[in-house]
Amino acid sequence: MSTHNISVTVNGTVYEREVEARLLLVHLLRNHLQLTGTHVGCDTSQCGACTVLLDGQAVKSCTIFAVRADQGSVQTIEGMAHDGKLHPIQDAMSEYHGLQCGYCTPGMVMSIHQLLQRYPDPTDEEIGHQLEGNICRCTGYHNIFKAVRALAKSSADGGSGLNVPSSETAQSKSL
Ligand code: FES
Ligand code: FES
Repeated sequence: MSTHNISVTVNGTVYEREVEARLLLVHLLRNHLQLTGTHVGCDTSQCGACTVLLDGQAVKSCTIFAVRADQGSVQTIEGMAHDGKLHPIQDAMSEYHGLQCGYCTPGMVMSIHQLLQRYPDPTDEEIGHQLEGNICRCTGYHNIFKAVRALAKSSADGGSGLNVPSSETAQSKSL
């Protein structure tokens, strides 16, 4: 099996690893970097529980080889809280009861992040369209929609904003 040396920045930290060509990004995160907040909910690329941001774009990390992230920047759910405070999306999901078991939530949070970057004041149709790749078996989606609407309103009112923490403090970690 061929291997490749890759360098990936995850939540502001640079990781260098030798990986098999077939290794999926989700398994790099969970098994090699111990970032288990990114979940695996299916083996059919449908559930969205594994969603992360790769170079700012929401992607299903079970559909991408780790080598594709070489020299790239990944943001996972572990990188959303900052200075001991939850990210505003996490706060809104909690306040509006947008989760029950929480299994879908890490991926949902990352997809909501991209949704609000694309549509700062989204319609219900835009919310539904942007989140259609994330399956939640618990909530019926109503409270997730409420959380997104509240975030949009807060942002419009000059609220807490949706910036992902800076990665300026990147450190190099190697094997
Ligand atoms: Fe279900 Fe990736 S684990 S889409
Ligand atoms: Fe349980 Fe979404 S909160 S699957």
